[in-house]
Amino acid sequence: MDYNAAITGWGWYSPAQVLSNHDLEKLVDTNDAWIQSRTGIRERRIAGPNETTSTMGTIAARQALEEAELSARDLDLIICATTTPDHLIPATACLIQRNLGANHAAAFDLNTACSGFLYALATGTQFIQAGGARRILIVAGETLSRFMNWEDRSTCILFGDGAAAVVLEPTAQTAGVLSTVLGSRGDVEHMLSIEAGGSARPASAETLAEKAHCVRMKGNEIFKLAVRSMAQSAQEALAKAGLVTSDLRAVIPHQANHRILTATQDALGVSDQQMFVNIDRYGNTGASSIPIALGEFLQGNAIDVGDHLLFVAFGGGLTWGATVLRWADIPAVKMERWETMRKEKLALTG
Ligand code: UT7
Repeated sequence: MDYNAAITGWGWYSPAQVLSNHDLEKLVDTNDAWIQSRTGIRERRIAGPNETTSTMGTIAARQALEEAELSARDLDLIICATTTPDHLIPATACLIQRNLGANHAAAFDLNTACSGFLYALATGTQFIQAGGARRILIVAGETLSRFMNWEDRSTCILFGDGAAAVVLEPTAQTAGVLSTVLGSRGDVEHMLSIEAGGSARPASAETLAEKAHCVRMKGNEIFKLAVRSMAQSAQEALAKAGLVTSDLRAVIPHQANHRILTATQDALGVSDQQMFVNIDRYGNTGASSIPIALGEFLQGNAIDVGDHLLFVAFGGGLTWGATVLRWADIPAVKMERWETMRKEKLALTG
């Protein structure tokens, strides 16, 4: 039997501490008017001293599991998309697995920067289609504030912290992930990087002095590539799904810069009503930006079975991707799950 991969639960977490543009005026030579007009950002959330990618990801994961009516013990895979893990070892996914008590789950991290959620969704979908896993938790989280150079006005105004999660499960319905397009260009990796702290440039007094553990970015070079790649991958994903933009209930893009979103919207020809934007309140939250936006979209908007969503992202690496999703009949997916779990239990007990 062929299965599709459907989202059955979702959740997101934003730290309580708000950093406004006016707060940033006290740190670097910038101003609220410049930031709002060049990026669309008014404020972003910053992790508290005891918060990390795994703690925020765990909160989001618990919400997603609750929404899916699934116990952590029933998960068989956890994928965490992050560029800002708690540690190099262990994987942040393992810390989330421990926090949740997901005792039967494999766990690994995946790093494709701001495209991370879409790469994780694609990976989870492949696991489901190949039969390698049935109940998958995808977490996307970033604590980018710990990797900012708070003296660099071209980067520190852009990013924020947060986490989000979805549960992905098999369904026999013609729904869930319909198509995915992914891409990368390692030849222009210098456009967005955290240079030090890896095997190429281990931490040293020199790397600390150079602030080489912080995000560096060639913002205006990335800008053009971002618009081109997001528009192209979105069009390809739509074509693969046999859909056109007017079929879309909503476009939920990676929130990098309001001007990038407007240019992508124009290139795709989607309406303001279709385009979901929340960058004003969160800034760029890296891998978590699409699933945070998805969570907010679902909170504020009714969605019907059969509605189509388009996710599209661009990030460091460079990487990009687009995914078209048809909203599944979630109660029916849960019925399919309970039937499968009943059979699994019977097989175990004989
Ligand atoms: O998540 C995916 C990866 N990241 C992105 O997609 C980011 C893409 N890039 C961007 O969002 C934009 O390029 C930025 C918001 C980073 C910068 O906007 P820009 O319109 O491309 O500005 P720019 O870098 O061309 O700089 C224009 C001017 C410069 O001054 P001069 O040389 O013209 O005198 C900058 O020094 O703006 C200056 N500037 C600022 N001024 C006030 C740069 N940052 C700031 C600032 N406040 N925060």
